[in-house]
Amino acid sequence: MAIRPLRHSKMPPPKILFIILLILVPICVIGIFTHGQKISYLFRPLWDHPPPAFTRLPHYYAENVSMGQLCRLHGWSLRSQPRLVYDGIIFSNELDILEVRWRELYPYITKFVILEANTTFTGIPKPLFFASNRARFAFAEEKIVHDVFPGQIATRGSHEDPFALESKQRVAMNGLLQIAGITNGDVLIMSDADEIPSPHTIKLLQWCDGVPPVMHLELRHYMYSFEFPVDYSSWRATIHIYGPQTRYRHSRQTDYLFSDAGWHCSFCFRLIQEFVFKMTAYSHADRVKRKDFLNYPRIQKLICKGDDLFDMLPEEYTFKELIKKMGPIPRSASAVHLPAYLIENADKLRFLLPGGCLRPQV
Ligand SMILES: *[C@@H]1O[C@H](CO)[C@@H](O)[C@H](O)[C@H]1NC(C)=O
Ligand SMILES: *[C@@H]1O[C@H](CO)[C@@H](O)[C@H](O)[C@H]1NC(C)=O
Repeated sequence: MAIRPLRHSKMPPPKILFIILLILVPICVIGIFTHGQKISYLFRPLWDHPPPAFTRLPHYYAENVSMGQLCRLHGWSLRSQPRLVYDGIIFSNELDILEVRWRELYPYITKFVILEANTTFTGIPKPLFFASNRARFAFAEEKIVHDVFPGQIATRGSHEDPFALESKQRVAMNGLLQIAGITNGDVLIMSDADEIPSPHTIKLLQWCDGVPPVMHLELRHYMYSFEFPVDYSSWRATIHIYGPQTRYRHSRQTDYLFSDAGWHCSFCFRLIQEFVFKMTAYSHADRVKRKDFLNYPRIQKLICKGDDLFDMLPEEYTFKELIKKMGPIPRSASAVHLPAYLIENADKLRFLLPGGCLRPQV
């Protein structure tokens, strides 16, 4: 095999090359140092792969169609008795969205099982937001099963993995569900407080036989309020037909994804101080890179624009999606097909609806 000789004449003189390198290298180093996360997210399509594809199960619903017809359309059959339904959530501080959730699901739920820790996932002592606001949930009192998870305070030098603490809470949740009286064949919702299955979805699953034993729920994802619909990417919530093998989790458990099954409203808080709490407390607290990230006027401005609180690029797996999702979330003027409780109580929940982005100052 013939090797072509190097053609020295076409290469730039080494001096110029050296000067260019001298300028470029420090710029790159500084750039990577200050925008490392952005750069890595920018190139995610090159280094990361999307989670394995889901099998989307079609979901049929219209108002006033009989349950027998709805079951049949899904290939299921009508039961003579509805299943009991347990709603299991690990609670942080989403009080308003919790109220929307429980009011919305109240008629269908046997027990609202709620676990809250007295420390954050990052090991900082945390107020018991639910326990100290329990009176607000008096409408559901006879259905509430609540417990406090004793968290561990992070000491200097000890770096307990936030995700390990999170998984211990999920184990504690299994015990609490037993205490609540769950039995085989009941429906169990495993989700965060802000992942709200729609009532008709729950009703369908409690009235039909033949439902897959585990299904993820495809939820419409919103950010800050229902004014900013992001996409349909939310899949972590699951519905289980409870059995001996059922364990509380919030990760990928099956390939089945039940389409258009509710709402996921991230960072849907009333008060700026609640945003700040969540930003410092949740598992990705490492994203708070600078102190001014927690500045109240900055947060207020970003939530009215639909922009990212952490100044990050979207997590996307193709350049096409990444470019589509860059910049603020386009505003929606629709408040149709939202939780009924939200529309009935629009006056007190204005901040969750189009045009209501300004949070009260306290
Ligand atoms: C809903 O169904 C009931 C009973 O079948 C019927 O009387 C009523 O008119 C229906 N409503 C609508 C909006 O179709
Ligand atoms: C959390 O609760 C446990 C058990 O009640 C208690 O021992 C611990 O001191 C509490 N931690 C904080 C930070 O309040």
